[in-house]
Amino acid sequence: MVKSFKTFLKHTAKDFHNQSVNPPVVRASTIIFKSMKHIRKTQKKAQKNPVGGHYDYGRQGTSTTYILQKILTKLEGSYHVFTTPTGFGSVFLAIFSVVRPGDEIIAADPVYSPTRILTQDFLKEFNIKTIFYNPHDLKTLERSITKKTKLIFVENPGSNTFDFQDLGKIVSIAKKYKILTAIDNTWGTPYYLKPIKLGFDMSIVSATKYYSGHSDVMGGSLAVNKKVFQKVKAAEKITGLRLGPDDAYLITRGLRTLDVRLDRHRENAKKIAAFLSKNKKIKLLYPFKKNSLNFRMWKKYYSGASGLMGLKIKSNNINSVRKFVNSLKLFGYGYSWGGFESLVLHQEFRETGNRKFMNLAKDEHLVRFHIGLEDPNDLIADIKQALRHLK
Ligand SMILES: Cc1ncc(COP(=O)(O)O)c(C=O)c1O
Repeated sequence: MVKSFKTFLKHTAKDFHNQSVNPPVVRASTIIFKSMKHIRKTQKKAQKNPVGGHYDYGRQGTSTTYILQKILTKLEGSYHVFTTPTGFGSVFLAIFSVVRPGDEIIAADPVYSPTRILTQDFLKEFNIKTIFYNPHDLKTLERSITKKTKLIFVENPGSNTFDFQDLGKIVSIAKKYKILTAIDNTWGTPYYLKPIKLGFDMSIVSATKYYSGHSDVMGGSLAVNKKVFQKVKAAEKITGLRLGPDDAYLITRGLRTLDVRLDRHRENAKKIAAFLSKNKKIKLLYPFKKNSLNFRMWKKYYSGASGLMGLKIKSNNINSVRKFVNSLKLFGYGYSWGGFESLVLHQEFRETGNRKFMNLAKDEHLVRFHIGLEDPNDLIADIKQALRHLK
């Protein structure tokens, strides 16, 4: 009867057995059975229905992880969702599941820098080659396809530069050449973008960010369609990349308010973007300016925007950029994002990695804001006082 996902998130996973609104944390290494017969019966059920939550060992999960997987599967509109101990674990699992020595990967140039290191450097040692494409020129993607291409790995928007890509076009190119696709959808989450429904085979979200929302847990989710399910399941089993029940509980708790928080992140970010857009030294890396390519690509696929944005600052005085960032009072300095609190980072090479298609002039500097859930007027006042230092 319940139609809206917002309502579903509030009502799901009640525990009438224990009479608690939230499900218990079930911690188990040994899953205990009443008889050997019961074990065999459960194993048969698991074979018949591999997504049905039938476990015979704690590494496969418990009811706590299963509840989270069920909620996420509904949110993604996918065949199944695997959960991993970190978001990067999901990135690794997606790639490891489908790529073998001799294969090639084509990845978006602005992928999260550890994803770049994994594909470009680490997998090279296993005779897996990665070619990077320009997110705004998909000819560079299509041109890179060879008989060996196994996977197209997208991150949308691009890490730190926030390049929005033509996702539908990427999917159709992949289908034309029968290549598998994966996307890192941490920025939008399936609340704003449902990649599996768009035709992607795999979709990753770092649950550390908006799912948990409270900056106190790490986790990842990998949504899959039926086509790749068995491959990912086999890889998950062999790597042991599974989320523990305590973290699963915290992520489920965070999901209760995902829609409320993301809507507020979006509203706050929009107000900050409107304020920043008036500053001539700043180019916003956020879908705000209506006629820009990034805005059009965002509008085409997303139903909303999250709170993470970039600022490309033009200044010949790098110390004044540093002073601007260091003068902020309400923005914490630290990695990660997606929590309730605002954060800032001055981006250096470490964050962006050795990109092929990033044209950053000497007098251009990248700053990243995560806009939290504070009163946006306070955040604007804080940015205003800090901007006095920017020369
Ligand atoms: C876009 C993106 N994907 C994946 C990850 C990795 O997630 P985790 O830190 O949970 O491993 C991050 C972390 O910052 C990220 O920004």
